[in-house]
Amino acid sequence: MINKKKKVALITGVNGQDGSYLAELLLEKDYEVHGTKRRSSVISTNRINHLKTSKTGTELDSKIVLHHADLTDSSSLNRIVAQSQPDEIYNLAAQSHVAVSFEEPEYTANTDALGCLRLLEIIRSSKKPIKFYQASTSELFGGENKEILDENSLINPRSPYAAAKAYAFYLVKQYREAYGIYAVNGILFNHESPRRGANFVSQKIIRGIKQIIDRKIDYLLLGNLDAERDWGHAKDYVLAMWQMLQLKTPDDFVISTGESTSVREFCLKAFNAVGIELEFSGNGTEEVGKVISLATNYEGLKIDDSLIRVDKRFFRPLEVNFLKGSSAKANKIFNWKPHNNLDDLIKDMLNNEEIY
Ligand code: NAP
Ligand code: GDD
Repeated sequence: MINKKKKVALITGVNGQDGSYLAELLLEKDYEVHGTKRRSSVISTNRINHLKTSKTGTELDSKIVLHHADLTDSSSLNRIVAQSQPDEIYNLAAQSHVAVSFEEPEYTANTDALGCLRLLEIIRSSKKPIKFYQASTSELFGGENKEILDENSLINPRSPYAAAKAYAFYLVKQYREAYGIYAVNGILFNHESPRRGANFVSQKIIRGIKQIIDRKIDYLLLGNLDAERDWGHAKDYVLAMWQMLQLKTPDDFVISTGESTSVREFCLKAFNAVGIELEFSGNGTEEVGKVISLATNYEGLKIDDSLIRVDKRFFRPLEVNFLKGSSAKANKIFNWKPHNNLDDLIKDMLNNEEIY
C-alpha cells in the first residue's frame, strides 16, 4: 500500500473567525494542520475548542497542532515554521479591526505589514518550497466611488489598517516576482458568520437584536449607517483561500458576492428576520430606527420604540463608503462563487449563537 504523506498547513491566527473555518476545511481535506495562537491572560481558543478531542479536552490530543506565536516576534515564527515544516502557510493573523487601527497604528503596522514580511523572509530562506496565502482585503481600495472593484482597481488605503495591508499586498507581489515564491493575495471583501468578532458591525447588530428581544438593552448604538459593504459568508470564503494555493500559477484574486448593502439596510433586514419592522428617520446623529410593526409579540416592545440610535463615537476619522467587488476572475480560473447571500448570512448568524 502506498503511504501517501499528508500535506502540512500552517495557519496564523487559527483562533480567528477565518482561521477556525479554514482549519475545519483543511482537516476535511486530510491535511496535517498547525495553527498559531497568541498567549493571553485568559484561555482564548473558543473558536477551535471543538477541534480538540474529548479524551482530555486539552491541546495534547487536539486534531490540530497549536503553537504559541506572535507576528511581531520573528523568533516565534522561525521556530514554528521549522517545527511544522509546512507545505502551505495561510497568513490570517492580524489586528483586523479598522477603527482600532486608528488607535493602535504602530502595532497594526507591526503585525499586519511587518508580520507578512517576516513570514516571506522565512520562506525565502527555506530550502523547502512553501506556498503562501496573504489575507488581503477590499479595504485596499478605499471605496470613495461607487464602482465595481476588481484586481485592477486603484489602491487607495484610508486607514492605518489598510495602509499596513497595502504594504503586505505589494510585498507578496514582489516576493513572487523577484524570488519565484508561490505567494498570493486573496483580496477578500467583508465576510461574516456566527463566529464573527463581537465588535464588527454585523455581529453587533445580530447580538443587539437578541439583547433587545431579551430586554437586556433598550436600543443599539451604531456609527455610520450610510456605509455600504459587500457582505459574504466566511465559510464560502475560506474555500477560495485553499483554492488559490492549488493553482499552477500564483496570482491575486478578488473574492466577493457582487452585492452591496448599507449598514442601515443590514439593520432593516436583520430586524425584519425576527418580525420587527423598523423605519429610519432623522439625519446624522439624530437618526433613529423606530418600530413600525411587530409580527411577533415581544414582551416590553411596542410600536414607536427607538431601537437604533447613532453615536458619533463609532464614526471613524476616515470612512470607506462603498465596497462592491467582482469575483469574475476567481470564477473563471477556479470556478469560485458564493453559496450564501446576505439573507442566508443573517439567518445563519441569528440561528447559530456562538459566543466569542
Ligand atoms: P479575526 O477574527 O480578528 O482573527 C484574527 C486572528 O489574528 C485572531 O486569532 C488573533 O488572535 C490573531 N492575531 C491578532 N494579532 C496577532 C499577532 N500580533 N500575532 C499573532 N496573531 C495575531 O479576523 P478574521 O475575520 O478571521 O480575518 C482573518 C484575516 O483576514 C485577517 O488578516 C483580516 O485582516 C483579513 N480579512 C478579513 C476580512 C473579513 O471580512 N473578515 C476581509 C478581508 C480581510 P486572538 O484570537 O488572540 O485575538
Ligand atoms: N464596527 C462597527 N461598529 N462598524 C460600524 C458601526 C459600529 O457600531 N456602525 C457603523 N459601522 C460601519 C463602519 O463605519 C464601516 O463602514 C462598516 O460599518 C463595517 O464596519 P466593520 O464591520 O467594522 O468592518 P470593516 O468594513 O471596517 O472591516 C472588515 O472588513 C474588511 C474588508 O473590507 C474587517 O473584517 C477587516 O479586517 C476587513 O479587511
